[in-house]
Amino acid sequence: MESESRPIGFFDSGIGGISVLREAVKILPNEDFVYFGDSKMAPYGVRTVENVKKLTLDAVEFLLKKDIKALVIACNTATSAAIIDLREKYSKYMPVIGIEPALKPAMEFGRKGKVVIMATPMTLAEKKFANLMKKFDRNSKIEPLPCPGLVELIEQGIISGEKIEQYLKIRLNPFKESGIAAVVLGCTHYPFIKESISKVLDDDTPIIDGSRGTVQQLKRQLVKYDIQASNRDKLGNIRIFNSMNSQDIIKLSYELLRGEIN
Ligand code: DGL
Repeated sequence: MESESRPIGFFDSGIGGISVLREAVKILPNEDFVYFGDSKMAPYGVRTVENVKKLTLDAVEFLLKKDIKALVIACNTATSAAIIDLREKYSKYMPVIGIEPALKPAMEFGRKGKVVIMATPMTLAEKKFANLMKKFDRNSKIEPLPCPGLVELIEQGIISGEKIEQYLKIRLNPFKESGIAAVVLGCTHYPFIKESISKVLDDDTPIIDGSRGTVQQLKRQLVKYDIQASNRDKLGNIRIFNSMNSQDIIKLSYELLRGEIN
């Protein structure tokens, strides 16, 4: 098989990475994709770093067996725990792309108030995030907001309605008084609840996620490694796998990919 016709592997702790895959399908329509979600073991964000590293490396083994030509860790939590090890192991053979909270564009808005970073407890506790803070938090504008329990709701397909809004109100309302400059979605599950976040903020506060930046980086790497899809006339195909032995989670994944539920 020619290298160019092999699929691109996507990984997340569950269905969250579908938000990044959705962007990838738009920007790279001729590529084939294979997605693996580890919903059985989700959430990752409350586990130990060592445990997340092991789960991620095992999941990548699964994707390698599908003969992937590039690897996207479409999970902020797994990226912070395992990206260094993954690059060490695999970047000789293929591009290895991770995702991190999009602080830079959020700071560039230059709006008054705090930049609130919603993410899992692990992402916010890890060194990778501390380094990002050091780089961008010049005048203590950044407010990390851990959101335990939110991934679990989204994994059940709860992406709108009273339960989610109540959760968001409790966490976001305290920042409203001093003003919110922007909200950064530092977990790939959260773009699916963007409308609920907007509703709770009740104004035009920018809500930013890192999926476009990640896919642009993937595109640059495909060019660099010279492994772009060779057939530009046909749309690529997408295969979704999940560690949970359930057709419901696969169905939910395709529905989220196609934007069929809200
Ligand atoms: N989508 C994952 C992320 O971006 C969620 C992690 C989890 O399972 O807690 O961090």
